[in-house]
Amino acid sequence: MRPELSDELAFAAARAVAAAAIAASHQIGRGDEKAADQAAVDALRTMLNGMAIRGRVVIGEGERDEAPMLYIGEEVGLGEGPEIDIALDPLEGTTLTAKAMANALAVMAFAPRGALLHAPDTYMDKLAIGPGYAPGLVDLDASPADNVRALAKAKGCEPSRIGVCVLDRPRHKDVIESLRMVGARVHLITDGDVAGVIHTTDPATQIDMYIGQGGAPEGVLAAAALRCVGGQFQARLVFRNDDERGRAERIGVTDFKRRYDLADLVPTHAIFVASGVTDGMLLEGVKVQPHGVRTHTLLMNSATGLVAEIRATTPKG
Ligand code: FBP
Repeated sequence: MRPELSDELAFAAARAVAAAAIAASHQIGRGDEKAADQAAVDALRTMLNGMAIRGRVVIGEGERDEAPMLYIGEEVGLGEGPEIDIALDPLEGTTLTAKAMANALAVMAFAPRGALLHAPDTYMDKLAIGPGYAPGLVDLDASPADNVRALAKAKGCEPSRIGVCVLDRPRHKDVIESLRMVGARVHLITDGDVAGVIHTTDPATQIDMYIGQGGAPEGVLAAAALRCVGGQFQARLVFRNDDERGRAERIGVTDFKRRYDLADLVPTHAIFVASGVTDGMLLEGVKVQPHGVRTHTLLMNSATGLVAEIRATTPKG
């Protein structure tokens, strides 16, 4: 029997995010975040609607009344083939793109119907480490310093050798202080915590841990990536007001204090794809060359074990 998440599907998903990355790349450095996002959304939606899936967007551009395209609940695909739930962020790093800064990506995850947490558009507290550690080694409710000490002990090194990625935001002042107090190296990023989490899985980045509050949709996307390459992820939704609690309730969240781990966010298998818009630590950005447009795309499928990178050149249209 063909798996619902075939590698053929992963390659098709990879082509779709590459198209979104190319579309967004026309807006690099133009100072218009909305136009950059819209270009990526249009391209990704067109690609999804050409795929042989019965797709349903579960994490998308927003609720139906605020996002005309790729809204939560939108059905995409040709209406034949496997039933797939889709989490997407056509442009993860709208500001990065508008300002021509590093690390903007087009990102998407596929899972069998019902197998992705329907995360509301709120914040999420996140803690991630790479693969190979005992379950429960780090703890979302422990202090950042204690988590660094635990990870250093497991790695057999000093806390000063632990690199931690954190979004550079005033809300993370105490986290950053706690990390510096224990001697960890703090890698501050201005945006793009999907990549920040994925960095923990690659020793070359020198990032061992991701800590902090970022978007909940990005949390599910990052969890899908870790589902494919291993690693630990713990999370809790963060609500700032009743409107956000209402958003969560509408998509079925009942326990506002619930702690989620990887298996809660992505219970079975997932395909994860990402394509670079601007150059970054994870992927190269789109490059216009004399003979075509070059893209760099990562694709992973936990159902088959596929982990691949594609560097493709598309003839200029
Ligand atoms: P964009 O909206 O520019 O794509 O930003 C994405 C992002 O940096 C995510 O990676 C992160 O989870 C979230 O925004 C953080 O939100 P905030 O900017 O409100 O701190």
